[in-house]
Amino acid sequence: MTDVVNQETIEPWELISPPVETVDLTLPQRLRLGVLASGSGSNFAAIAQAIAAQTLNAQIQVLIYNNPQAKAAERATQYHVPTVLLNHRHYPHREDLDGEIVKIFKAHNVEWVVMAGWMRIVTAVLLEAYGDRVLNIHPSLLPSFPGIHGVEQALAAGVKITGCTVHFADLEVDSGPIIMQAAVPILPTDTAETLHARIQIQEHRIYPQAIALAAKLKP
Ligand code: GRF
Repeated sequence: MTDVVNQETIEPWELISPPVETVDLTLPQRLRLGVLASGSGSNFAAIAQAIAAQTLNAQIQVLIYNNPQAKAAERATQYHVPTVLLNHRHYPHREDLDGEIVKIFKAHNVEWVVMAGWMRIVTAVLLEAYGDRVLNIHPSLLPSFPGIHGVEQALAAGVKITGCTVHFADLEVDSGPIIMQAAVPILPTDTAETLHARIQIQEHRIYPQAIALAAKLKP
């Protein structure tokens, strides 16, 4: 390890986010994760790959998804992770959905809840069951631009740098103590799609590391 920063080779975002490689993220015991996803599941895949590559000492016990079309479910099957579809439209209250999630996670012996593109608002039912072991990822540098249009809002605001954040979840949307962030410069030619694609590269890099860091912070 060196504390000399080579300004010529460092990537722009490394000047802002801490050099996470210098933090020891090895875990003494295997974390049992329950993942919640609504969409394409690229973050699910990044976590599953980190586990397969043995850079994250964890196991995904189960994936719960709420949208029958979610590609995340296909990815889970590829990684031999059990999946459960809980269609939120069948639950009149958010608390009912979260109660079912808790039941399934407990049945699968889950100790950490990982929201990976979960497009539902979390309630006290989930947070009370899992305390501070509920993680979320968001495509902006929180507390700027929470909500579902974080990428578009950063572009519209004209900021020059945005990024992604992994944080402990609380009852507010995209809020809670920050675990790890990565910054992404916004280019003059960016559209929401090109910018989100570059943010996702960073999401996939930091989410597995942030899970390990969270476990170090709250063993
Ligand atoms: C990510 O950009 C994440 O930050 C946000 O939803 C997106 C999910 O992407 N919460 P994917 O389904 O993991 O590809």
